[in-house]
Amino acid sequence: MPAWGGMPLRGLKGKIAAVTGAGSGIGQAVAKRLAEEGCKVAILEWKEAAAADTLKQIRDKGGEAITAVADVGKEAEVKAAFDKVVAHYGRLDILVSNAGVFSAERDGKVDTLPKAVWDEMMSSNLTGMFLACKHGIAAIKATAGKGAVVLTGSPTGILGVTPASTGYSSSKGGVHALARVMAVDYAGEGIRVNVVIPGFTLSPLVRELVADPKVYEWNVKNIPMRRGAEPDEIAGAAAFLASDDASYMTGSFITVDGGLTAV
Ligand SMILES: NC(=O)c1ccc[n+]([C@@H]2O[C@H](COP(=O)([O-])OP(=O)(O)OC[C@H]3O[C@@H](n4cnc5c(N)ncnc54)[C@H](O)[C@@H]3O)[C@@H](O)[C@H]2O)c1
Repeated sequence: MPAWGGMPLRGLKGKIAAVTGAGSGIGQAVAKRLAEEGCKVAILEWKEAAAADTLKQIRDKGGEAITAVADVGKEAEVKAAFDKVVAHYGRLDILVSNAGVFSAERDGKVDTLPKAVWDEMMSSNLTGMFLACKHGIAAIKATAGKGAVVLTGSPTGILGVTPASTGYSSSKGGVHALARVMAVDYAGEGIRVNVVIPGFTLSPLVRELVADPKVYEWNVKNIPMRRGAEPDEIAGAAAFLASDDASYMTGSFITVDGGLTAV
């Protein structure tokens, strides 16, 4: 039940939800929100301590969760993580595929970008989405039969709004395409696939990068609301898309960006 005591989103209570990259930022906020809505949550994360932090936060509020440590870019680890979730809960209904990396320092313009950095971005951000969806959807089909998948996209997958982010932007463009084809492929099987596109969101790493007020101001100057989002302002959209309140939505993209892409 939501903290403010209003009506819960439909159809989430008792569902089993796996969230990748749930050790920090948006993924952590989504995991906490889904637990608050009555889901049993699996925290899929490659950093064990970060996963344990989210687990503690959920359990401290009376929620139910487990961790499954995996690098989403490595198929054997991803498969083992979903096997663990199904062995523990007996079912999977919801996948929020969210894990991703961004590095303003290491990413760059295409003519000087080391292939190793490109590969690193693709591994977490695109191959990781593919593998989480591959094994997550297989688990949903084999257990619950139908369900919902939510991917975390980015404005950089649509627009060139973040200069010198070749690897990151390209990976996110791929995520949007992956979501569209999956939405079409699984619509007849009762599995909905949608995307949340967060704008400038103050996850811990981003907060650190923009600690200097001048850097913060530069980042918000083109955002009509003139501020960054808190991670839990993104989590509501992901929880909605995972819920039965979004039962007629598939292949949809919800931007939560303070108006950035409306300009
Ligand atoms: N923060 C923003 O402004 C913003 C904007 C648009 C999109 N996004 C996207 O939102 C998602 C979450 O980002 P965030 O801002 O919360 O960042 P974050 O760094 O706070 O959280 C990302 C989490 O994913 C985990 N992770 C990264 N690679 C992984 C891998 N290979 N295997 C398993 N776990 C992995 C990290 O350890 C971390 O816990 C990402 O997909 C990011 O691209 C963020």
